[in-house]
Amino acid sequence: MPRYTGLINKYRDRLPVHDDTRIISLGEGNTPLIRLQNIPRLLGKDVDIYVKYEGLNPTGSFKDRGMTMAVTKAVEAGSHAIICASTGNTSAAAAAYAARAEITAFVLIPDGKIALGKLAQAMIYGAVVIQIKGNFDDGMRLVKEVAQKAPVTIVNSINPYRLQGQKTAAFEVVEELGFAPDFHCIPVGNAGNITAYWMGYSEYHASGIIHQRPRMVGYQASGAAPFLRGKMVDNPETVATAIRIGHPQSWDQAWKVREESNGWFDECSDEEILAAQKLLCEKEGIFCEPASAASLAGAMRDIQTAKIPEGSRIVCTLTGNGLKDPDVALKQCRTPLVSIEATLDQVQRAIVERLR
Ligand code: F0G
Repeated sequence: MPRYTGLINKYRDRLPVHDDTRIISLGEGNTPLIRLQNIPRLLGKDVDIYVKYEGLNPTGSFKDRGMTMAVTKAVEAGSHAIICASTGNTSAAAAAYAARAEITAFVLIPDGKIALGKLAQAMIYGAVVIQIKGNFDDGMRLVKEVAQKAPVTIVNSINPYRLQGQKTAAFEVVEELGFAPDFHCIPVGNAGNITAYWMGYSEYHASGIIHQRPRMVGYQASGAAPFLRGKMVDNPETVATAIRIGHPQSWDQAWKVREESNGWFDECSDEEILAAQKLLCEKEGIFCEPASAASLAGAMRDIQTAKIPEGSRIVCTLTGNGLKDPDVALKQCRTPLVSIEATLDQVQRAIVERLR
């Protein structure tokens, strides 16, 4: 088996690259599809739930799939600088891939509303970090405007190469399972990723690799749920800062995905999102960031109400790593630390008192 060198090399024949294109890669993709063992039993339902753990990408989120393509193509076109607006993960990925390509990354992030790990990433990878007194949607508008005046390539998901890279996650799911799931559940912010998965499944369907495509189910945080309100939301709020977006860029595409796949959108409260994040940690040993847990939170509800029927095979995308947002994780942990003297006696007592 050849050494794994990233998703562009693996899926070269399905991506817009040439034989002599210089590939900018950090070995992204090839992430595990983990079958949940304990949560389905707790739900008391006969369902097969798999999670696509995208938190294991090089910068800890699915954005790396899109960024390897976007930066490869920017470099191919002779660009020396890339720019994005971000709730954190895109900026981390842009910063890393720009470093790898030795070009400059400019990232616009919402002041104070970005998880600590993501800020640290953008900074240490050496991006020019511009905090704006506004939200992601303000940043996106500014990025589009400034890219008309300065020689910078936009690497948000409005860059079509991003979705090309991200569609490979659907290819991987199919290769792991040998078929497409019945339902694919995914958190929705800008709606680029749901669009990309659908592209991937649809390509494999058109090539006869799968005979059926999944129903695509997109979950939003209640405070940032334009697809549920049927219109843009001006002041989005949620603990899941990654999806704190009120003006999704792939609005039309996502409605089309819903229609073509016979899927649906739904919303999850912040409480449901955090509960799902914690459950996944405590019952399966899988740590994702809050936004990612929206996919499982929504899926669990839809399984309980039988909107997703028993016998279904479900894939939930866990878009980002839990380590990205240590503050929210720590706030979730109500049991206090056990603090004692460093003696054998005290350690022994601490253990015996707490054995299950
Ligand atoms: N989950 C995580 C962890 C994200 O970072 C994002 C988007 C999404 C889900 C939603 O994906 O936008 O394709 O519908 N994060 C972007 C960013 C906006 O700037 O990192 P989407």
